[in-house]
Amino acid sequence: MSFLSCCKFESNHSFKDNNSFKESVADTSKAFNKNGNRFSFFIKSMSHKTGSSRHRRISEEVMKVGNAKVSARVFSYQELAAATNNFNDDCLVGEGGFGKVYKGRVQSSDQDVAIKQLDKNGRQGNREFLSEVLMLNLVQHQSLVKLIGYCIEDEHRMLVYEFLINGSLEDHLLDLPPGKEPLDWNTRMKIAVGAAKGLEYLHHVAKPSIIYRDFKASNILLDADFNPKLSDFGLAKLAPSGEQEFVSTRVMGTYGYCAPEYQRNCQLTTKSDVYGFGVVFLELITGRRVIDVKRPTEEQNLIYWAESLFKDKSHFTKMADPLLQENYPKKGLYQALAIAATCLQEEPDTRPFMSDVVSALQFLVKPKAEEQVDRISLKCSSRYVDSVIEGNASENQVI
Ligand SMILES: Nc1ncnc2c1ncn2[C@@H]1O[C@H](COP(=O)(O)OP(=O)(O)OP(=O)(O)O)[C@@H](O)[C@H]1O
Ligand SMILES: [Mg+2]
Repeated sequence: MSFLSCCKFESNHSFKDNNSFKESVADTSKAFNKNGNRFSFFIKSMSHKTGSSRHRRISEEVMKVGNAKVSARVFSYQELAAATNNFNDDCLVGEGGFGKVYKGRVQSSDQDVAIKQLDKNGRQGNREFLSEVLMLNLVQHQSLVKLIGYCIEDEHRMLVYEFLINGSLEDHLLDLPPGKEPLDWNTRMKIAVGAAKGLEYLHHVAKPSIIYRDFKASNILLDADFNPKLSDFGLAKLAPSGEQEFVSTRVMGTYGYCAPEYQRNCQLTTKSDVYGFGVVFLELITGRRVIDVKRPTEEQNLIYWAESLFKDKSHFTKMADPLLQENYPKKGLYQALAIAATCLQEEPDTRPFMSDVVSALQFLVKPKAEEQVDRISLKCSSRYVDSVIEGNASENQVI
């Protein structure tokens, strides 16, 4: 068995084929914004240093995706300042590598929004801003956050999203303050299925398919009913096409969630996202952060810790989040652990596809899952899943 640790360095609409994708982009753009900007115009308009070689390189790369229209709405700085009472601290809901996130109310549409303000001195920049606008312009799915618009004015760069009232999964799962209600088992499984469907859409439905690259608890946002939506497409990449098996790109993402082969050889595929999903799913089951330096040394890396417990079925219940207070179906726990294990396999080829993961997970959210399901199987690694459920997983077995 070889779970690997790794490492931050740096409307229900489906697309059935390439042509329909292009048409859909055009149609969507038309439907959402009759005055949609040409994409090239959008890129030109956002340069900090027009004509610089860095700007040209980024523009060329992003233009490879296509000359689509950008359907997101353009906001003025003044409109967003009014929506947030001049970016008042009372409206601040969070802060990440991109910059500060504010809750605002847009007067013209009478709508709550989340406004992300690019911090010029932050870890991320124009490239991530562009990638976010472009990717979210191309995809639409109930498990992906909606980009409502953006602001490019003088030095200001802002992204405007639908506001998700329950914040991020991280806020409800990891390092809960005393007295905060933990997520129950069913909600955790529902979040896992929804998030997996988001990845499934990006990998298998969107054309060209997209590698998300930054799957982690803080990037999974939750609506009022705890339905998950993936946010932060700044690091997303188009998946390899034709003969190409992987995208060669420098390692970016968040420490602990990166697939081993991506960290080692900079080889990115959709299977790298499957590994990231495995990590978050294990966090959902255990309530533990993938890397937690506050724990004893041997427990600081969730994947290494789980690796030792996976060797013996009698230890499986030790992996359940103590905050669940044993309120989970035992068989459901075993099955969930088996799915996490297959996603975390060392070899990308032996990890399942996200569509297989979605199929397997769906059994876990049904009511009375214990009676309904005797065994789940994934197309990939089904033998291992079975052996985990039976408790026969051996130390030598590759997971
Ligand atoms: N659309 C949104 N609706 C509601 N809250 C949001 C929204 N987008 C972000 N937030 C809040 O802002 C916080 C910061 O988000 P952000 O994506 O900037 O940083 P992060 O995910 O914590 O870190 P990173 O930069 O590594 O992605 C989130 O954890 C969430 O609580
Ligand atoms: Mg984020």
